[in-house]
Amino acid sequence: YSVKELVESVGLTSVPSSYIFRDTKSDVHCMHVQSETVPIIDFSLLTSHDPDRRSETITRLGNACLEWGFFMVINHGVPEMLRDEMVRETESFFDLREEDKRQYAGKKLFDPIRCGTSFNSNVDKTLLWRDYLKIHVHPHFNAPDKPSGFSKVLREYCQKTRDIAGELLKGISESLGLESGYINEKMRVGSSESHQLLVANMYPPCPQPELAMGLPPHSDHGLLTILMQNGIDGLQVMHEGNWVSINPLPNSFLVNTGDHMEILTNGKYKSVVHRAVVNSKAPRVSIGTAHGPPLDTVVSPAPELMTDGVGQAYLGIKYKNYLELQQSKTLSGKSCLDHLR
Ligand code: SIN
Ligand code: FE2
Repeated sequence: YSVKELVESVGLTSVPSSYIFRDTKSDVHCMHVQSETVPIIDFSLLTSHDPDRRSETITRLGNACLEWGFFMVINHGVPEMLRDEMVRETESFFDLREEDKRQYAGKKLFDPIRCGTSFNSNVDKTLLWRDYLKIHVHPHFNAPDKPSGFSKVLREYCQKTRDIAGELLKGISESLGLESGYINEKMRVGSSESHQLLVANMYPPCPQPELAMGLPPHSDHGLLTILMQNGIDGLQVMHEGNWVSINPLPNSFLVNTGDHMEILTNGKYKSVVHRAVVNSKAPRVSIGTAHGPPLDTVVSPAPELMTDGVGQAYLGIKYKNYLELQQSKTLSGKSCLDHLR
């Protein structure tokens, strides 16, 4: 079952008890902060030939990773039309008839394409107000055969977001005092083997949004996640003990650091906890791509960053095993990282 079907099949006026998220009530004091306070990275300056502007931007990027683990990227060069098409095709996928989607339902973590609801509906005690489509898009590209235009748009979108991730990781490497290519080379991001997972989320309108949760507080597994949405807000980021609602600038990408950034940097750049809340008015779609090393890479803290008597703060783990660990549990805060301390 999908939440979308549930909402569309019956005129729901209340949230079914299996979806009532107990922590939400106490948790809902969200501090609304203007989008301007969230760090903004001008991508065109990061790739600029002007050394001063580039180094200023790298400093901003480093501070954003250090203080937020989250930032907005503007002037990234991805055509607005491609982003719009990507959102439209994703919406069309969720609108397909159930029999068209069934071949992707009930699939496992490393199956090329899978769709479903909640996070891990086998173990989730509370169901999430969310349907998903997950596609492993790199190193092997996969795409659903319907809607018919999806594959082409998806391929192009994923290529562009990989390029952005590669550039951001160069800047992030430099901000850590490392060679520009350090993370890309070590993690083989930008290479033909790097791993990229696309996660599309559909949050149908919810009759009692304060009782349900789209995605509970969690951190992402990869190095970086690049996210965009269909114009409807719902992402909140934990910053200095408060939930900050994110209102992205038009045509911007939202980027957050993941657990593998925290592991690799030995805790210098921590992964950010975030959640997705739901609303009663309009369906919300968000599309994220998680950028990580090849699945068989064992990631441990970079020796260069274990300075000043700070020992190795995390055990090394194969990226693949980390994904399996996350998938075996309910999604909750940074509980997976605790296994590596
Ligand atoms: C996510 O945490 O992966 C998605 C968040 C969102 O829907 O904005
Ligand atoms: Fe996430």
